[in-house]
Amino acid sequence: MSALPGSAEGTAVTGLDSSPVQPAPADLPPLTEQTRLEAREIIARYPRARSALLPMLHLVQSYQGYVSPEGVALCAEELGLTKAEVGAVATFYTMYKRRPTGRHIVSVCTNTLCSVLGGQRIMDALSADLGVHHDETAADGSITLEHAECLAACDYAPVVTVDYEFYDQQDVDSARALVAALRRGEKPLPTRGAPLTDFRGISRQLAGFSQYGDAAAARDAVDAPGALEPTLAGLRLSVERGESAPPMPAGTPSASEDDGEPRETVRPSGRTGETPEKEAGDARVAAADNPAERAGAAQTHPDAGSEYGRDRSRERPGTGTDTPAGTELGAGSQGPATPPPASPGPGKA
Ligand code: FES
Repeated sequence: MSALPGSAEGTAVTGLDSSPVQPAPADLPPLTEQTRLEAREIIARYPRARSALLPMLHLVQSYQGYVSPEGVALCAEELGLTKAEVGAVATFYTMYKRRPTGRHIVSVCTNTLCSVLGGQRIMDALSADLGVHHDETAADGSITLEHAECLAACDYAPVVTVDYEFYDQQDVDSARALVAALRRGEKPLPTRGAPLTDFRGISRQLAGFSQYGDAAAARDAVDAPGALEPTLAGLRLSVERGESAPPMPAGTPSASEDDGEPRETVRPSGRTGETPEKEAGDARVAAADNPAERAGAAQTHPDAGSEYGRDRSRERPGTGTDTPAGTELGAGSQGPATPPPASPGPGKA
């Protein structure tokens, strides 16, 4: 178990990362008085100084390429925190790097949808080309490679980001070509959004210092045309087919009607004398307009385990008992529970 970077308290907080902390590179640019002034500029944006920690960590990365021990110390000094407190935050978020990074961070989504569409093959190919694994930097210092959890662009799967800019619908060949171009010093245009900078450049933006001359220039860059077809495909199909969403249940305020004021509590069960929590649970179950939502509401009902907590469709015929704990359908996964087949299919054991 390693100590946190820059933590004078040594192993005061452990278990967050077992990988070794590398010594700072000899050519690491120092943090200067200018860095400190910019840190104070960030702090001044917030009513409470410690709220500035996240952008300050990005600021440190914009100078040194990672959250160095020196950077942890600077944040702690300016905010009146301990180094352990700063280290605990820096090690919680994956966007804060604990080791020196390459010029660009290439993140390959290997979460479910991207993975089934080739994300893992892309990761494997880039790993072989660069001679590195997850969270390692190529020997030439050009690229730090990492696998990423869902990058919230599933409609463009499989996706790769470079310095958090999107390169959509990649395959092994296109991703290899992208990385080869980056290693040559080129900056291929992202599929959408702002033009590519590099890891330190994007870190500076995340710290709140724009690379653009004024707000209009920033807006023009970020609002650059994007390929929205995958996002809009469902909408386009529904228009072509004349489909529309079912109406909301009667009494549901539309977004424009919702004034944020609490509504009168619905009491569909007619139960009186119950606790407010149970009445709210009743209301959630009654308001559910599909089986999945109803099952979810039932599971959070204070009476879960009685008529609300038991999903009778899951009971095994003839046993009259619930599915044993831990073996429920869907347990341990994020997928929806589905009923088991009545019998094994042909040819299945
Ligand atoms: S699974 Fe890759 S972006 Fe969501």
